[in-house]
Amino acid sequence: MSLLAIVMGGSWVTFVLSMCLTTIVMILLVRRGKFLYALRRVPYPPAFPIIGNAHQLCCSPEEAFKKMIKWGRELGDIYLIWVGMRPFIFLYKAEAIQPLLSSSVHIDKSLEYEYLRPWLGSGLVTSTGEKWHFRRKLLTPTFHSGLLEIYLKTTIREAQILVSCLSKEVGKPEFDIVPYAKRATLDIICDSSMGCNINAQKNFENEYVSAVNTLASISQRRFLDVWMSFDLIFKLTTWGKRHDHALRVTHGFINKIIAERKAEWKAKKSGNFYERPHKRQALLDLLLELSKDGKVLTDDDIRDEVNTFMFAGHDTTATSVSWILYALGRHPQYQEKILEEYYEVVGMKELTLDILSKLTWLDACIKESWRLYPVTPLIARQIYHPITILGHKIPIGSTVLVNSFLLHRDARYFPEPDSYRPERFLPDGPRYPSYAFIPFSAGSRNCIGWKYATMIVKVLILYVVKNFQVESLDTEDQLRFISELVLHNADGLRLKISPRKQGILV
Ligand code: HEM
Repeated sequence: MSLLAIVMGGSWVTFVLSMCLTTIVMILLVRRGKFLYALRRVPYPPAFPIIGNAHQLCCSPEEAFKKMIKWGRELGDIYLIWVGMRPFIFLYKAEAIQPLLSSSVHIDKSLEYEYLRPWLGSGLVTSTGEKWHFRRKLLTPTFHSGLLEIYLKTTIREAQILVSCLSKEVGKPEFDIVPYAKRATLDIICDSSMGCNINAQKNFENEYVSAVNTLASISQRRFLDVWMSFDLIFKLTTWGKRHDHALRVTHGFINKIIAERKAEWKAKKSGNFYERPHKRQALLDLLLELSKDGKVLTDDDIRDEVNTFMFAGHDTTATSVSWILYALGRHPQYQEKILEEYYEVVGMKELTLDILSKLTWLDACIKESWRLYPVTPLIARQIYHPITILGHKIPIGSTVLVNSFLLHRDARYFPEPDSYRPERFLPDGPRYPSYAFIPFSAGSRNCIGWKYATMIVKVLILYVVKNFQVESLDTEDQLRFISELVLHNADGLRLKISPRKQGILV
């Protein structure tokens, strides 16, 4: 029906509705036009209308990772991919990353982080705005050095258990280090988060341990699978069912611990206090103290933060330990460097935080592994305020991803970027700009647990290397990277270990 016919026909309602619709469509088109105009000079791989580059991502996770790196090397200092109508903009130059990470405005995680919400609620990783600011300030004291000294003792105990578990692999042609590292870090983080020993290193059947592993791995896979992004479909799949079961187990476990600990707190207040046999100051104790009986933090808030620390702390640290051992297993001469310095500095003394900070070879070898195998290779932000990056005005509605795998291989700052050369991180090594190396991200939303994580990683590496000669069975070009929330190798990381000359020391 023509406009004239509508007007002549007297159907004013239809006319007004059509005008409204046309105006809305025009506004949306203009808005979209402006959006596309802003991104016009950001290169992208050949894309189809409507679906964009989505078809190129319908491949195995290893292939997807390879493409991401290839596009970065071919398309210049910045590129984007279109997934349907959504642009994902990749940054991997220090100059591009600085305005994003140094900003106090661009602190919102990408939309995909919603997959973690059923598990982590509005904990530190998933929250934003006022809530995030408040919680971040509240939780920062969790990692002050007095507490780190206490956590160090637990870490040493768990490192000794790790060595005894690994000794069963001596003489075998190969084994995967990742599950060992995961169980060790789960025990360590559980102790510091909740003050309880779940003994995952020895008790593989623990229901809570497998629930945490299930949640971590399913939530990460959802980041990569377009179909699983729809809640309705996800809920109907086996993944969805396993996820919900694991969620019930985890929440049940933590609720019980919170209830027990609260009862202890109440008893303490009333003077009828039962002192826990192995009383430790854990995150949970700190949170209960800060909660002011539910006025500042509710039980759900406390559960969210405990879950967040378990999630953010255990897989990252385990992955880190595994990659470092892989790198040292490829370059055994650095195992010797670490040990020579260790015996010179430590001798028979007890390991303290101060002594750990003096082990420069250990520190350099760890940093060089973080450079080549960044544990969190992608840091994602949703853009809610325009930002200019490398001269491009990135519009609201974009998703920006910092690719630290490529960033850390920038030959301007790290010559021979694919070679493992820990010397570059020795105290008198060459300088590099602060945003060129960001294993724990940077700026206000960096890793709150970085000091703690560094301590755990140092102790575990030291104990393994002190007791075993480590050999890695895969060469660098055999690696098949998968970028979930953490960087994996598709086949795990295969090592072979033999006792050092002096035997197992622990
Ligand atoms: C080697 C081990 C670790 C690495 C490589 C690592 C890396 C990171 C990175 C890159 C971020 C920023 C993510 C983003 O902005 O999207 C982050 C955030 C975070 N990390 Fe870690 N992390 C490690 C260990 C830990 C540990 C042991 C804990 C605590 C027990 C922890 C707790 C957190 C929390 C709570 C956040 C969110 C901080 C916020 O948004 O304010 N991390 N981590």
